[in-house]
Amino acid sequence: MTRGEAPAAGAAPVRPIEGAFEERFGAAPDGVWAAPGRVNLIGEHTDYNDGFALPMALPQTTRAAARRRTDTLLRLHSARSEGVVTEVRLDALAPGAVPGWARYPAGVVWALAEAGHPVGGADLHIDSTVPTGAGLSSSAALECAVAAAYDDLYGLGLSRPELARAAQRAEHVFAGVPCGIMDQMASVCATEGAALHLDSRTLEHRQVPLGLAAHGLELLVVDTRVSHDLADGAYAALRAGCERAARLLGLPALRDLAPDALAAALTVLPADLAPLVRHVVTENARVEAAVARLDAGDVPALGPLLTEGHASLRVDYGVSCAETDLAVTAALGAGALGARMTGAGFGGCVIALTPTALTRTVGEAVTNAFRTAGHHPPHLLTATPSRGATRTA
Ligand code: GLA
Repeated sequence: MTRGEAPAAGAAPVRPIEGAFEERFGAAPDGVWAAPGRVNLIGEHTDYNDGFALPMALPQTTRAAARRRTDTLLRLHSARSEGVVTEVRLDALAPGAVPGWARYPAGVVWALAEAGHPVGGADLHIDSTVPTGAGLSSSAALECAVAAAYDDLYGLGLSRPELARAAQRAEHVFAGVPCGIMDQMASVCATEGAALHLDSRTLEHRQVPLGLAAHGLELLVVDTRVSHDLADGAYAALRAGCERAARLLGLPALRDLAPDALAAALTVLPADLAPLVRHVVTENARVEAAVARLDAGDVPALGPLLTEGHASLRVDYGVSCAETDLAVTAALGAGALGARMTGAGFGGCVIALTPTALTRTVGEAVTNAFRTAGHHPPHLLTATPSRGATRTA
């Protein structure tokens, strides 16, 4: 499926969100909170295997203008929902009770209440520049903006990983996607100029400086505009396959399978599970290699790891598609140092590490290849590593 009228995948001009809030709710908001989308440099489908990932936050954010209420009513409005306000009382919040986009913010409030935090009602107006359905974690950005807003509005004093957990729980229970924790951790913990080295088991994380510009490099993001819908069961099936494989191997999670034990493990696994396991184990190793190369200041050396990661996702994990494969091939052919699909797959975006002088050429090569193949033109943007969730007003 192609998103025909997808919004341009660049940062839109910032709209006066306080005014929009006041117009809708009749008073000024208490504050404005913003949380970013993300791209993942390497470490795909490793998070729900307790493994490692290396995402970075995008400059594109979802913003929540919010005001605390004295009752338990939650009122939700989005700049994209054309005047429709979703209203629900906190005691009526339950999985399935809130439809559409509003289930994400409602799910976060439900998750905070379920965890025993003293939360009440609020009015929320949401606006976003994160492209939706492109695999750039627009849902995590929405969840994390609301989690950050509630944390401040109600003085909860939660840690960043606790905010991420509440956001992930909303995604699991209200959106029905059994996602890992990478997107939410990137959205709350990322810092400007760095990638986030994440241990998904412990939620320990470290900022790894990513000096793209200093090395004359850029990260080109190609949105293939092939929609990916994680709620359709394919993602859940992959996760279930990995968990079955871990059980068969007698391990808590695939993260616990060491690279030197992989060959033996592959001989005992059923044919449908062995490639999944090979991907997860080699992908965890690629994350560690990527971090070592960045720590050594060798940013260009990231390139081959990206390309290897794509091959593993295509061949072993089976989550690439014609458009993402074509974007990778065309980018590499035009001089990218490395390229891979990013996010869950089934469409979505490709990232390409490009010498700055070649970024335009690479983008044109991908666009031309799509035209020749009869695909919809891709949307292009360059990503700079940006900060995680924050209060902006
Ligand atoms: C989606 C999920 C993440 C992660 C990626 C694949 O973005 O939300 O938790 O599993 O897919 O790496």
